[in-house]
Amino acid sequence: MKESISIIFDENTIQRKVKDIALKINQDYISKSDILILSILKGSIVYTADLIRHFNFKFELEFLEISSYKNGKTSGDLSFPDQRLPEFANKHVIIVEDIIDTGKTLAYIQNLIRHSGALSLECTALLIKLEKDNGSLHIKYPGFNINDIFIVGYGMDYAGKYRNLPYIGALKH
Ligand code: IMP
Ligand code: MG
Repeated sequence: MKESISIIFDENTIQRKVKDIALKINQDYISKSDILILSILKGSIVYTADLIRHFNFKFELEFLEISSYKNGKTSGDLSFPDQRLPEFANKHVIIVEDIIDTGKTLAYIQNLIRHSGALSLECTALLIKLEKDNGSLHIKYPGFNINDIFIVGYGMDYAGKYRNLPYIGALKH
């Protein structure tokens, strides 16, 4: 069947929100050193690229690959490929996530870092599915709240496609 996409957040709306979030992070981190931005691949790559260009503090950038979706459908199981873990000790860590659905991915990463000797740990997520049971996660720098719909674009994919769209849309079949 043919897939179609209806735009939910256009390019300008996203860029304004990303800048707003970055300004809040700037205020909180301008006087800190040893900051580590941790981008969660692959979906966060576009958000990360736009967000960090607004930062006015010095930071290191690292990536972790983790996913809970297989071919567009939630599997519930996290896939965490073998990879070198960044050094979190003595760093102020900010996790950059594209979208929070069940919250399992973020909870997994937070647990990885919690006992690593990090100086602090906060998170930004561009999109949060509010209807899902993810309310216990603390996301200090949230973007948009959305309903429980399947989203593509601005880094997010369906079966590996649509990451390049400059807008965020709902995928219909
Ligand atoms: P969670 O672990 O259920 O919170 O899922 C989080 C991860 O699944 C995100 O980092 C996304 O990469 C992916 N994901 C969740 N919802 C969507 C969606 O609507 N479209 C595309 N990817 C999604
Ligand atoms: Mg992701």
